[in-house]
Amino acid sequence: MSDRLPKDFRKLSIQERRHVLADTYQLDNEQLLGSGHADELLDLADVMVESAAGFLPLPLGIATGFIVDGVEHSIPMATEEPSVIAAATYGAKIVARGGGIATTIDDPVMTAQVFIEQANTRVAAALCSTSDPSALNELAERLKQSTDAVIPAMTERGGGYRGCDAAWLTETQLLRIQIHIDVRDAMGANVLNTVAEQLKPVITDYCGGRSLMAILTNDALQRRAQAEFRLPLHALRRKGIDSRVLAERIILAGKLAHEDPSRAVTHNKGIMNGVTAMALATGNDTRGLEAAVHRFACRDGQYRGLTSYRLDNDELVGSIELPVPLGSVGGAIGFHPVARMALNVLQIGSAGELGRIAAALGLVQNFAAVSALVAEGIQHGHMRFHAHRLAYQAGARGSIIAIAAEQITAGGVFNSQAAKSIVHQLITRNEQR
Ligand code: MEV
Repeated sequence: MSDRLPKDFRKLSIQERRHVLADTYQLDNEQLLGSGHADELLDLADVMVESAAGFLPLPLGIATGFIVDGVEHSIPMATEEPSVIAAATYGAKIVARGGGIATTIDDPVMTAQVFIEQANTRVAAALCSTSDPSALNELAERLKQSTDAVIPAMTERGGGYRGCDAAWLTETQLLRIQIHIDVRDAMGANVLNTVAEQLKPVITDYCGGRSLMAILTNDALQRRAQAEFRLPLHALRRKGIDSRVLAERIILAGKLAHEDPSRAVTHNKGIMNGVTAMALATGNDTRGLEAAVHRFACRDGQYRGLTSYRLDNDELVGSIELPVPLGSVGGAIGFHPVARMALNVLQIGSAGELGRIAAALGLVQNFAAVSALVAEGIQHGHMRFHAHRLAYQAGARGSIIAIAAEQITAGGVFNSQAAKSIVHQLITRNEQR
């Protein structure tokens, strides 16, 4: 049998594609069920992407107890990593002892870019002039009028055109025109791409040449959220370590991520463990979000950690700032039932609120990771989750999973042989009952 998929794979129905996959790669029932457990959802997959063949059913969990700006939120998170949701809930519980997290957020302004080749050099120089803004002002007036005409609904909702800028890119000899747009509750990609494409002729009319491309930038430097918590030292109790020593070690860990880029990458990965999981659960574009965040993390030329910690009298103060290109409408958000469910659980009414919660979650996720790292380390907690997976892989199902995991952890041997023997004993005992 061929191990290649047929050329017309994308033209088959989703059920046919699944049959072909099963035959071609000898998929077993578990694999087939796991990737398409609900037939009625296959149509959804089919309209979402080309050549759909099923689903990846990632766990969707709910981190609880987040007090954000005085309101308690539960946060849906989709992730494959066992400890992420547990750590978020744990961190939220500790931070709630100090009253929770206070947030702020910037206006949801995103940017579309149009790159012009062979622009008239005199006009390009006038547009990029730092001393005389008259050419840029003149172009701005035209861009504003055209933007209002292209996205009237957005403008009516209080969003729309917010300005433009011009830059000369010396290596490529391209003129870059950026158009800034308040996208309200959308992530904004569709709006920005539509505007960018429609405004190409307006720009080339003004400066000559032709457009190389017109597309949003995922660089969301203007759309940022900030979060802060204050935690009295006595609320920072943790087994086996003095609270002040723990606070000082957390502060040092924050400084370390500021100084050492290689540590900063892991520090920020931990932050995104939470933020990306929430973005995924709400149907947002996780790649756009992550690209924006990592770009922001090296805005001064060096990649740095996004959080910082300090002592203020007897309080540990944790803070974060990050770009939050997240929508509460549009794209897969209003369309995917799980994204709709996630937004219901979050109880939010706008993209701004989602951005605030993202910042709060990122900060708490980092606080939970760093406080474990500088105290007892994270491996101890991780083994508990690992034991559950070993039990599952060894054939445990239902209530046996937790019992087996407990016995594996108590035995201290974390391998498949030990797990198999424990699970086998439990199943046999169950059958004899
Ligand atoms: C693991 O997914 C995330 C951590 O490595 C984050 C960190 O080191 O700060 C624990």
